[in-house]
Amino acid sequence: MFLTRLIYVSTLCESCDDKALNDILNISREHNQKRHLTGLLSHNNKYFLQCLEGSRSAVNHTYNHILNDSRHSNVLILDYKEISQREFGDWSMGDIPQSHLTTLLNLQFSGSNEFNPYELSGESAYLMLLELKKNLPSE
Ligand SMILES: Cc1cc2nc3c(=O)[nH]c(=O)nc-3n(C[C@H](O)[C@H](O)[C@H](O)COP(=O)(O)O)c2cc1C
Repeated sequence: MFLTRLIYVSTLCESCDDKALNDILNISREHNQKRHLTGLLSHNNKYFLQCLEGSRSAVNHTYNHILNDSRHSNVLILDYKEISQREFGDWSMGDIPQSHLTTLLNLQFSGSNEFNPYELSGESAYLMLLELKKNLPSE
């Protein structure tokens, strides 16, 4: 089955607190390990930017669950493509908190110094995630 990579953005719901974030990461890691999915979830207090890699069927299956999750809204796909290798294979779901989303990094990949992934092109989002993984320990 082809390897694919999906990158999407969404908006946290108002009640999405630290506990909800931990729940999301825990269930993601549990499910993703079983489905051989890998990726990163970056977030500040407003937005998610997530990348998911794996077989086309596993990525699509999981994305359908994610779409219907009431802990976020305005889900928008930035990029979806067939790939020849994984770039985020060290993480079943790596957590990138707000502290990693520096002014410098936002300026490098977007038109402002704030993290607003709706303003990113698919390519910029991908390159930003590649930059972010450099400072992330393996799981
Ligand atoms: C921003 C966000 C990212 C998520 N990422 C994943 C993920 O990578 N893998 C996963 O299995 N579930 C992920 N979830 C959780 C799913 O939406 C869903 O709650 C979970 O798969 C359990 O589904 P189930 O209750 O139908 O089994 C995510 C949810 C949110 C809000």
